[in-house]
Amino acid sequence: MTVLKTINDYNAWQSELSSNCCVGFVPTMGALHDGHLSLVKKSIDSCDVTIVSVFLNPLQFAPTEDLDTYPINIDNDLKKLSKINVDAVFIPDASEIYPKGDTFTVVESSFSKTLEGKSRPQFFIGVLTVVSKLFNIIKPQKSFFGFKDAQQYLLIKKMVHDMKYPIEIVSCPTIRESNGLAMSSRNTYLSNSDRECAGVIYESLQLGEKEFNNGNVDASKIKSVVEAHLKTESIVEIDYISIISLNTFQEIQDIESDALLSLAVKINDVRLIDNIILTN
Ligand code: PAJ
Repeated sequence: MTVLKTINDYNAWQSELSSNCCVGFVPTMGALHDGHLSLVKKSIDSCDVTIVSVFLNPLQFAPTEDLDTYPINIDNDLKKLSKINVDAVFIPDASEIYPKGDTFTVVESSFSKTLEGKSRPQFFIGVLTVVSKLFNIIKPQKSFFGFKDAQQYLLIKKMVHDMKYPIEIVSCPTIRESNGLAMSSRNTYLSNSDRECAGVIYESLQLGEKEFNNGNVDASKIKSVVEAHLKTESIVEIDYISIISLNTFQEIQDIESDALLSLAVKINDVRLIDNIILTN
């Protein structure tokens, strides 16, 4: 496994690859867990070479957020990636991605202002800007994203479509702990008992899905089922519960086509998100 720190290093490494080689790319912010590794394995299975980036992107954190305490552990990450035979890891410094004098960002003006974007106004500007820069640096044929961060995946897919990037965006299913809690680097902030309580998040989504599968297409009713179950754990503070159409990305009342039931909660100040697709 080759460790590359600069764009020049990467270009030199990529120039050695054969011209028709399919490059798979998995962007991450490190603190790797089995959720991340499932994306990497999917890339290894379907591409000729796989590059993983580990870059804690300052632009997607608001000043009040956890940039300074994010559980980074690069040695551990490199061990995990080397064990599954990743070809190269790109670990740039912030100055490589955001050199002095850069003044451009990528701003999406509609869907990114809702859900996560409403609660975290800076977030998607940071995500889309860094992913766009990384795509330009890595020049992959395919790139892999987790559906756990569904709005992020949908926005990146749309950015690639709207901005005409010749890249296939592949979605990967959410990997969960045994109690259903979606794996996340931020789960390390939770105490053992909070982690146990957090099982209520996926249970609630599943109850919402069950209500829908029983024939209820009223989004308000499904959201109230989810809310009622979340409230059985008093420690859970609800930020939002949402049902959007996967065609229009708009909040809907009657579920007539595939929809995304998603939510964000806080448990002892740790923000957690999860979702489930409602499909006939
Ligand atoms: P990060 O949170 O490190 O996640 C990197 C990738 O792993 C994302 O595509 C995310 O959706 C996926 N992922 C995280 N937990 C997962 C789980 N439990 N199951 C499946 N996939 C999971 O998302 C980011 O970093 C950043 O915003 C990034 C895209 C790298 C831009 O900085």
